[in-house]
Amino acid sequence: MSPPVWGPGRCSREFSGLAIGPAGAANLRDTRSPRIREAPSRRCYTMRLVNVVVLSRSRSIPSTKRLVEAARARGHTVRVMSPAHVAVHLDRKGSRLRYRQKVIKVPDVVIPRIAASIASYGLPVVEQFATHGAVVMNSARAIGQSRNPARCLQRLSAHGIDIPSTVMARDAAEMKAMVPLVGGVPVLVKLLTGSERRGVMLCETEQSLEAALEAVLGLGHNLVMQEYVRKAGRDLRVFVVGGQALAAVSRVARPGRLSRTLSRIARLESCTLTPEVKATAEAAAKLCELEVCAVDLLAPRSGAPRVFEVNASPALPDMEEATGVDLATAIIARAEALASRKEFGG
Ligand SMILES: Nc1ncnc2c1ncn2[C@@H]1O[C@H](COP(=O)(O)OP(=O)(O)O)[C@@H](O)[C@H]1O
Ligand SMILES: [Mg+2]
Repeated sequence: MSPPVWGPGRCSREFSGLAIGPAGAANLRDTRSPRIREAPSRRCYTMRLVNVVVLSRSRSIPSTKRLVEAARARGHTVRVMSPAHVAVHLDRKGSRLRYRQKVIKVPDVVIPRIAASIASYGLPVVEQFATHGAVVMNSARAIGQSRNPARCLQRLSAHGIDIPSTVMARDAAEMKAMVPLVGGVPVLVKLLTGSERRGVMLCETEQSLEAALEAVLGLGHNLVMQEYVRKAGRDLRVFVVGGQALAAVSRVARPGRLSRTLSRIARLESCTLTPEVKATAEAAAKLCELEVCAVDLLAPRSGAPRVFEVNASPALPDMEEATGVDLATAIIARAEALASRKEFGG
């Protein structure tokens, strides 16, 4: 049975009770109705059921699970495909996509959750789905760019977003010469190599920096050196969907630990989004061309928040639990809006 297709038109009374923004950012707990009015264009779209593919290693990954639940709850057909089992056939006449040795029909929406370890294979797969007309949330280009801290920070700095001072060089002598440019020791050394856990080293003395540079550069890895923002009041993560900041948490490191990375060693506390943090996070997401992302910032007690990372596949459950915001449904609502917009050329 084919799903009902709805188009732009007049909203009947039945449809008009719910108005949400482009990201479904209103009261997220109430967005389960399958009817959506698109705010920005003032055109009334009613939702059509879509085929969603979540590109993810496994359906048991908690964030993948949440996306599947949210899509099903809104009546969509959803399938989890491991990017490792998607094959692509290209020739002069075009291309075809296969999954586990069968040619597949291209879905309406693809939500990539590509692990960094498989990015060099997974990102061309995402691109191929986009070439075939699927709405991808996020594009391969934007994911690739955000995975490289140097490229991400380059883009943000070029557009006036406040970031910690950062330098990049390939030899240790040049790096050491640039220490004063990032405020002197302590400094942070961040690996650019795209593994799952990139790693951050805090070098408190020139000697420890020298040792870190020798080890990292000697292994053939690229790195950036960054100002250590000591007076940071809080380490914030802001979740942005469709250009709108929907939720924010403060990440509190366990005693003695620097890293506040979500699933590892941080405690998350819900916090209110100040207008400044909200505007900065939304601007960073837009510059990185990411439909779904988490913008990580250091918010000093006084002064502007400084963005140090933008994550293209942020974990959902911890953040949902800490904030009470249904982020998975917001992502699916945004997917519906983009699919409708694409279909009706809005
Ligand atoms: N410039 C900085 N100054 C102070 N602390 C930082 C800075 N950059 C990162 N951190 C801290 O280190 C943690 C890990 O850094 P991050 O760049 O997110 O690396 P990764 O995600 O690869 O672990 C962050 O969560 C943050 O708390
Ligand atoms: Mg991080």
